[in-house]
Amino acid sequence: MKPFFSQIQNASLRKELLRAIRNHWTHDSTAIEGNTLTLGDTDFVLSEGLTISGKPLSHHQEVYGHAKAIELVYALLKKPEIKQDDLFLLHQAVLSEHIADIYYPVGKWKIEPNFTFYIRDDKEMEHEFPHPAVVPALMDQWLGDANAWADQIKSPKDAIQSYANLHAKFVAVHPFVDGNGRMARLLANIPLLKNGYPPINIPSEERLTYLIAVSEITAPCGDVSLQGDIEQIVDANAVNRFAGLCERWWQPILELVDRTIQKDAKLRSQSFQND
Ligand SMILES: Nc1ncnc2c1ncn2[C@@H]1O[C@H](COP(=O)(O)OP(=O)(O)OP(=O)(O)O)[C@@H](O)[C@H]1O
Ligand SMILES: [Mg+2]
Repeated sequence: MKPFFSQIQNASLRKELLRAIRNHWTHDSTAIEGNTLTLGDTDFVLSEGLTISGKPLSHHQEVYGHAKAIELVYALLKKPEIKQDDLFLLHQAVLSEHIADIYYPVGKWKIEPNFTFYIRDDKEMEHEFPHPAVVPALMDQWLGDANAWADQIKSPKDAIQSYANLHAKFVAVHPFVDGNGRMARLLANIPLLKNGYPPINIPSEERLTYLIAVSEITAPCGDVSLQGDIEQIVDANAVNRFAGLCERWWQPILELVDRTIQKDAKLRSQSFQND
């Protein structure tokens, strides 16, 4: 099915809708990661190509990289399947401000184990993500799931399940040295876009709720450092709870798209009356 924006016939409305979605998606995803550019700054930087006085150069580059990655995601919709190299290209765009070195691979899987610390019952907990040795096999399974979901979505409920499942599994593998959150928030939308749905966007104001939800997805699985089965590295109940949050987070973008489609239809009916 064609992506949601191709139903909008008026070129200016279509362009403005894509710009608004790009701004929200880029701003929220980079702000979750710590970027200090506001939504207005993000639009200004991307639309005008100018910088915001006093804000770090790296934050501007992150925003540019993310916007470029969204374009790559839209281009991927034309391909029948996504492959490992597509993920590597997207990773290069997302981390374009970083100079790669052997311990900081950009456009390649991580080469060292990675960890996260989180608080549970007021105690500092540590979670080790799957070891680099099992990442290629886990990511083959993830790509298989992503390509299968693209053919299986039949309703908005399926779209939410697909997004939550792919997002959860991606961050649970944590295949890259950095940028895993931004990559998950981009990639998990591909099956939705392929099925004509707008993307799910996680609002940056919900950062804490989001981070607690993802930590609950991986925490119950215990030591997964050498686990080679992707189904075993996420907790199914926690993924369902995450899906409930994703459904709520989707609403503002759905409403924006609906308003634009209605405006487009009104324009067309007016132009018929004028004929
Ligand atoms: N306990 C956890 N289990 C699984 N995933 C987690 C956990 N805590 C955080 N995450 C995920 O990892 C991401 C952070 O990883 P990383 O620094 O590689 O990504 P990033 O894109 O640079 O940062 P960010 O996700 O903050 O934008 C979080 O956004 C979240 O998606
Ligand atoms: Mg990071």
